[in-house]
Amino acid sequence: MSALEPYALRADGQDAPQGIVAAPVFSWRLRSGRRGARQTAYRIVVAARLPGGGSARAWDSGRVESSETTGIRYGGAPLASSRDYDWTLTVEDEAGGVVERTAVFATGIVHSDEWAAAWIGRNPVFRHVALPPQDTDISFTVNKLQPVRRFVRHFDIDAVPAVAKVHASAQGVYRLYVNGRRVGTDELAPGWTEYRDRITYQSWDVTEHLRPGRNSIAALLGDGWYVGFIGTDRRHQAQHYGKEPALLVQLTMDAADGGRSVLGTDESWRETASDILYADLLMGQYEDSRRAQPDWHLPETDLTDWSSAVVVGTDVDRLTAEVDPGVRATLTLPAVSVEAVGEGRHIVDFGQNLVGRVRLTVRGQAAGTRIQINHAEVLDHGELYTANLRTAEPLDVFWTDGESSQVFEPRFTLHGFRFAEIDGLAGSLDAGDVEAVVLHNDVEFLGDFSSSDAPLDRLFQNICWGLRGNFVSIPTDCPQRDERLGWLADAQVFAPTALAIADVAPLLRRWMRDVRSAQNDDGAFPDIAPHLIHLREGAPAWGDGGVTIPWHIHRATGDLSVLQEAADSMVAWVRHVERHNPSLIWRAQVGNDYGDWLQIGEETRKDVLSTAYFAHSADLTARTLRLVGREADADGIEELRDRIAATFASAFVAPDGTVAGDTQGGYLLALSFGLYRDIAERDRIAEKLVESVLRRDVSLTTGFVTVGLLCPVLAEIGRDDLAFRLLHNDRYPSWLFSVRNGATTIWERWDGWTPEHGFQSARMNSFNHYSLGSVGQWFLSGILGITQQSGSAGYRDLRLAPRFDPFLTHAQGSLETPRGRVESSWRRDGDEIAWTVTVPPGTPAIADLPCRTASEITEGGENTTHSQGVTLMDHGQGSIRLRLESGTFNFRLPAG
Ligand code: BGC
Repeated sequence: MSALEPYALRADGQDAPQGIVAAPVFSWRLRSGRRGARQTAYRIVVAARLPGGGSARAWDSGRVESSETTGIRYGGAPLASSRDYDWTLTVEDEAGGVVERTAVFATGIVHSDEWAAAWIGRNPVFRHVALPPQDTDISFTVNKLQPVRRFVRHFDIDAVPAVAKVHASAQGVYRLYVNGRRVGTDELAPGWTEYRDRITYQSWDVTEHLRPGRNSIAALLGDGWYVGFIGTDRRHQAQHYGKEPALLVQLTMDAADGGRSVLGTDESWRETASDILYADLLMGQYEDSRRAQPDWHLPETDLTDWSSAVVVGTDVDRLTAEVDPGVRATLTLPAVSVEAVGEGRHIVDFGQNLVGRVRLTVRGQAAGTRIQINHAEVLDHGELYTANLRTAEPLDVFWTDGESSQVFEPRFTLHGFRFAEIDGLAGSLDAGDVEAVVLHNDVEFLGDFSSSDAPLDRLFQNICWGLRGNFVSIPTDCPQRDERLGWLADAQVFAPTALAIADVAPLLRRWMRDVRSAQNDDGAFPDIAPHLIHLREGAPAWGDGGVTIPWHIHRATGDLSVLQEAADSMVAWVRHVERHNPSLIWRAQVGNDYGDWLQIGEETRKDVLSTAYFAHSADLTARTLRLVGREADADGIEELRDRIAATFASAFVAPDGTVAGDTQGGYLLALSFGLYRDIAERDRIAEKLVESVLRRDVSLTTGFVTVGLLCPVLAEIGRDDLAFRLLHNDRYPSWLFSVRNGATTIWERWDGWTPEHGFQSARMNSFNHYSLGSVGQWFLSGILGITQQSGSAGYRDLRLAPRFDPFLTHAQGSLETPRGRVESSWRRDGDEIAWTVTVPPGTPAIADLPCRTASEITEGGENTTHSQGVTLMDHGQGSIRLRLESGTFNFRLPAG
């Protein structure tokens, strides 16, 4: 009998967070090998670690009889800044077992008046670093780019403090060092937020970095999003937030006797230019390692030639603690091939389109050798194809220092690439000397899928790679060209998939604050966030992301506070659309009105799409208001939703079920958002959807706004067969077309490349957009059947409804829900299906299986009535419903 085991202990959704500033919310997941295992009670004790040793109890929840494992808020004494806390969870189970686990969290700066650091920048009396003479090709707007700066402060301590914490941020991007040792592993910190309203700071424990005597704290500071190039429009590309980067660091040292000393950035810091001539997210990095000065950040280094840093601001009100895992290097990929293509020129293939940078080891190069690394997602006739990157310059350049071997890896840029061209090496390049470093927010991966079909598995992996590449500080549309913006529609169509594959909820929730920051006084959400001021207000399905994304986060996590903080902005958006469209057909205030973006072969009417989204947003807003207890407001919006739905039906739905325009997208919107008068009309619309799919020989015509609805809606109307045929189709246009043509990520367009026409227009042709990967969620919820009841959130009411894809002999995978891990694996065995499923403790599930009678199903070789933890609920037309207690079950049922 295996015990109930809590794991994945989280404070505010994070594993050992370092910057908690307000009462954290605790959660954990459960596992057990025992059927019917469940938590009957819990207790949480929180204790502050005292610098002098020992601890002080801050909270004791007492023994709480509850099966709850999420959303438990700290209710103890006020938290102190820069301190470690242990929280000990005790869980009791139904068999009398008791198990205890301890996790930690640390605090950031709890009260803003505890900040004792100022924003510092370079001294304006500074000499421009002359570029190495041989370099003449820094051709673009170089006057907007400047060297990465070094900042250093030396300080003396008699003894190593009991605890030392550092909190740091930048208007720009930074890397921190204490005594020459890098602090943390975050890349491109502090990340991109709506800097006008908030800027994240990171926190780390640096006790181990310090030593008695002289110490140094140092940072590299680059332009990043704050000063560097972002977005698409040349005129607006750089210096969106400021012309100069700035740094803010606060070191807090607690002695064992309770004394606390604080050292913050001020004009006593010294600064100078670094060996990085410039670094920019879009424009690459130029680095002259002859200027490297390897000891620049050490305490012994003489700083007399350096300038004093200048205080450029003291405002700390925008500083907010980090609430989600930062961008980190999560993987390194070896070169799969290296080809010499000319004098000193090699093309490297990493076998995977990715986001990050190249790490290159060079050997035996004369000092001052100029090595250039260019990047591309694809090759064209054996050469890098970079036209689709538009004005982004995917070039990293460095000059060697003449040492026998040197490792070069840029620090403040990133590229989207599979191929790299390395130019300038004397001699040949060994495949072992080059690797690709993958960067993205270091989120936990939750969902997993594999099957008997390699192309389908590749599609799922491509979706995962789309997630990796486009969750870099914010959810972006693409990671490689001069864009990389937080487009709301891309994010909202992909959100259900992203949330099922990885724990992106804290990141999305943090980004939603930027979405709301950009909401205008009239209630309009933006198209993109952080907002670029020259852009217009949100279009249908773009602005609606302000409503749908909080909804998806809540549904995936069960966290109601996400909806509480979003509710007012949702109402404002819906009322904004209503105010400008009193007829309830949404045709006014449509922003850039993109429609079902990048659809193929037919065009869904824009007013059909906009009005459907208007109804959908009103629906989710009404449901949100009800969940947060605002019944009267909910009634008002629900009534509006019903009127929009009725208007939609009378304006756009013909008596035979045709939705105006007769497109797959139109049918999907009407069916998915419930825009019909009655079930008979729903069935007629469904019939029309089927006709429109068959008419095109089972091909899709949808753009990215509606494509994610295809499989779920077809399955819902009883046409799994068509959903699976669409999914396995690899003719153009289809999901597998790109896979058949070697894609390792999801392309922006169905026709990004075709054998007939080659590459699509370079003006808009990314090979790493996640939007068309919105089908990913259905791999888990459809094929594996890991889903939840319609009114459920956080997988509280688990539903297990596998769909046995006729093209597969087996499929398996899992999902880490907030309550524990669900596993589902099925295999064809003669004329039977063997299905093994694991249900986490305390989360009884309803299994929906396609059988006529219960006697057709066995579990563990026995009739289900004899099976412990299985209860027959009911059987309807061709389906059986079973209730499963927690545990692992081995079913066999007819293949049908
Ligand atoms: C982006 C999209 C975005 C769109 C707006 C494109 O440039 O890459 O994915 O949603 O603009 O239509």
